[in-house]
Amino acid sequence: MYAAIDAGNRNTKFYDGKQLIKFPSAIGINELQRNLKGQRKPFDFEWEYEGKCGFAGTLAEDESEYAESRKDDSKAHFDALLRILIALHQFGVGIEFNIVVGQPIATHTEEEKTAIKNMLQRRHDLIVNGIRKTIVIRRCEISPEGAAAGLLAPGTGIVRVIDIGSGSVNYATLKDRQYINKSSFTFAEGMESKSNLQVAAFARQIGTKSVNRKWGKGDAVYLCGGGAPAILPYLQEEFFPHCQLLEPDPFFSNVKAFYMIARKIYG
Ligand SMILES: Nc1ncnc2c1ncn2[C@@H]1O[C@H](COP(=O)(O)OP(=O)(O)OP(=O)(O)O)[C@@H](O)[C@H]1O
Ligand SMILES: [Mg+2]
Repeated sequence: MYAAIDAGNRNTKFYDGKQLIKFPSAIGINELQRNLKGQRKPFDFEWEYEGKCGFAGTLAEDESEYAESRKDDSKAHFDALLRILIALHQFGVGIEFNIVVGQPIATHTEEEKTAIKNMLQRRHDLIVNGIRKTIVIRRCEISPEGAAAGLLAPGTGIVRVIDIGSGSVNYATLKDRQYINKSSFTFAEGMESKSNLQVAAFARQIGTKSVNRKWGKGDAVYLCGGGAPAILPYLQEEFFPHCQLLEPDPFFSNVKAFYMIARKIYG
């Protein structure tokens, strides 16, 4: 089967054309010593993989002493691998997969993409909540976060997207649905990067960075990512009066666009 996974720093999103799922990306390693066993919530995950074990999802949020959700500007790392494998273990049908996953725009380079492919494209044996599953990733393509979401925007011409995540903000420009590299970039801070987030001040920082890259006041600017609803009114007021949410639910735009790409490549 083919599927799309957006292994975000805060939330992992999965879409296979039928199931649209979001679970917490938190991971705790080596924490299987607990007295009260059993899966209590739908996204409580106990995992074992290649000699390591631990908690993930809501279980890591609730019970881990050492849980962290790595907030990084690249997804070529173990945590992202584990999030993707848990999503396929829990929600994928069958054992063989062709997938599309995401990477921030700034690090969407050949080197990083190769690192992610080398990490994913092979056979994996993963146990989640006591169930062992073999997962074979045949093919994996890596799509730029935010830029991919621009494919969901209506109309042609210049379309701008700002994807406001927990650990990064991606700025994408598309012209007639083609990605324009020179006016697309990443701000490597997100909604959870500040110790005490001041939404208005962060919105101003987000807006200023786009103006500095010559984005214009009259541009068609669309927002996605979990931070979008909070930031939207400030951007409308001070920077882009026509700015709007790409979709009413801000979390799933990237993964839906990754799925469109997956269908085109593998369908
Ligand atoms: N109910 C919620 N659950 C989780 N995050 C929420 C919720 N409501 C708003 N948010 C905001 O959404 C952010 C997460 O958004 P999103 O899922 O798009 O990030 P991400 O894709 O995991 O991160 P990144 O793109 O940086 O990897 C949180 O940091 C928080 O500020
Ligand atoms: Mg994201």
